Amino acid sequence: MHRVSLPEKQAPQPHSSPFYSHLVPAYQAVWPAVAKRRMSAAIKALNIPAGAKVLEVGVGTGLSLNSYPTNIELTGVDLSEAMLAEAEQLIAEKKWQHIDVMPMNAEELTFEDSSFDIVTSFHTISVVSQPQRMMAEIVRVCKPGGRILMINHFRSDNPLIAKVVDSAGNITKRLGWRTDIELDEVVRELPLRLDSRYKPNPLSLFTVMEATCKPEQVVLAP
Ligand SMILES: C[S@@+](CC[C@H](N)C(=O)[O-])C[C@H]1O[C@@H](n2cnc3c(N)ncnc32)[C@H](O)[C@@H]1O
Repeated sequence: MHRVSLPEKQAPQPHSSPFYSHLVPAYQAVWPAVAKRRMSAAIKALNIPAGAKVLEVGVGTGLSLNSYPTNIELTGVDLSEAMLAEAEQLIAEKKWQHIDVMPMNAEELTFEDSSFDIVTSFHTISVVSQPQRMMAEIVRVCKPGGRILMINHFRSDNPLIAKVVDSAGNITKRLGWRTDIELDEVVRELPLRLDSRYKPNPLSLFTVMEATCKPEQVVLAP
């Protein structure tokens, strides 16, 4: 597997990266039970076709990786090299040849335009410095007609719930996690068709979002 370090000039230091680097062990103890099932169900529902080129942005320690089919080409990126080290260990243990992970800033992806059939991202857009920029980058690297799958906490449309969660946001902000991101705000003005948004269960704080990328650029076969 090929890994490169971020060159100095493009190595941003958003608040989130040191946090995740220093707390990998604690994170590993708590997060898997909460998140794994949610990601797995959403990835399986995508029915990813054989040979698809898939990018996961903010792949972290690789909790989602065993939910993808093995007959695809999967690239995972993350800003934290400590998180990626865990993912690499897992990939080596499982002898997965179809997965590559590398350090990269979600707000400045180094891939060419329209490189991927599917782009996924889980629990990451609320920890980057510029959520709109991350979403714009995801759309840029996704092919016309390609699909985007995202799971995250987004601000509730219900004013009461939004207010309660906003007050918790003062605490979670210290952990590098924002609670006030609005999905509509993040996708506004992007060439994206929102296909579905739903809660994994009625009480969940998280939203699963599926979208089609640059639908107006899709060329239909004659
Ligand atoms: C809450 S974790 C989620 C990890 C994984 N997706 C999961 O659900 O287990 C957020 C991840 O975003 C990464 N991250 C934070 N800022 C980033 C950035 N600007 N570019 C890429 N990754 C970033 C962190 O290093 C961390 O791995």
